[in-house]
Amino acid sequence: MSNQALIELSELSFAWPGQAPLLDIPAFRLEPGETLFLKGPSGSGKTTLLGLLGGVQRPDRGSIRLLGQELTQLAAGARDRFRVDHTGYIFQQFNLLPFLSVRENVELPCHFSKSRAARAVTRHGSVDQAAATLLAHLGLTDPAMLARRADSLSIGQQQRVAAARALIGQPELVIADEPTSALDADAREAFIRLLFAECREAGASLLFVSHDQSLAPLFDRNLSLAELNRAAVASEV
Ligand SMILES: Nc1ncnc2c1ncn2[C@@H]1O[C@H](COP(=O)(O)OP(=O)(O)O)[C@@H](O)[C@H]1O
Ligand SMILES: [Mg+2]
Repeated sequence: MSNQALIELSELSFAWPGQAPLLDIPAFRLEPGETLFLKGPSGSGKTTLLGLLGGVQRPDRGSIRLLGQELTQLAAGARDRFRVDHTGYIFQQFNLLPFLSVRENVELPCHFSKSRAARAVTRHGSVDQAAATLLAHLGLTDPAMLARRADSLSIGQQQRVAAARALIGQPELVIADEPTSALDADAREAFIRLLFAECREAGASLLFVSHDQSLAPLFDRNLSLAELNRAAVASEV
């Protein structure tokens, strides 16, 4: 028996209602601590797959295990708790709450997850200190920044706040859905390097999806969704 995967999918299939099958994935594993770049063109089902991994969508068939827990066997509330305890998300549009401060945005997962709050306190002394330290590691070193409203930030600053929110309380899995598409090439690479350093320090795996291949060589492993997905149309392969 091999070591437990962080994510293990088997015979997973999913179709949006009234649409042709989008995903049909016989097998996929992500290892603990691994950084994986998953590429696929727009519309190929990357965001849908990430939603399935977070238990936001349910598959029509098959198994999704995260840290050995079968997500399809959890009721909706338990799935939501499991997701916030173990997964940090960086969304394409960052999804910061505009009327909250930077600090409040970063600390949100600790309000929903006791285990992430507890880990933040163990590692940094307090949730506030965890937020300030993560933001400083990500290049937002000005303490006055913490009190600013999220909607007063530049795109590059919002992205760092979104990354700090994903990382706080050390979830085992960080999922990033095309988080660099709004940045220029230099800023993209700098951001990825900071994200890697933080994931490594926390022992987190990083699953990064994008249609932009320029960042792929920086990752432990590269994969195309079309290689995994039997439902991919021939033009994607
Ligand atoms: N909420 C939804 N309801 C219905 N169809 C959807 C929804 N989200 C995505 N789709 C469809 O699923 C396909 C893949 O979308 P998506 O997973 O967003 O791809 P990607 O992230 O690779 O661009 C598209 O055809 C899209 O129209
Ligand atoms: Mg997408």
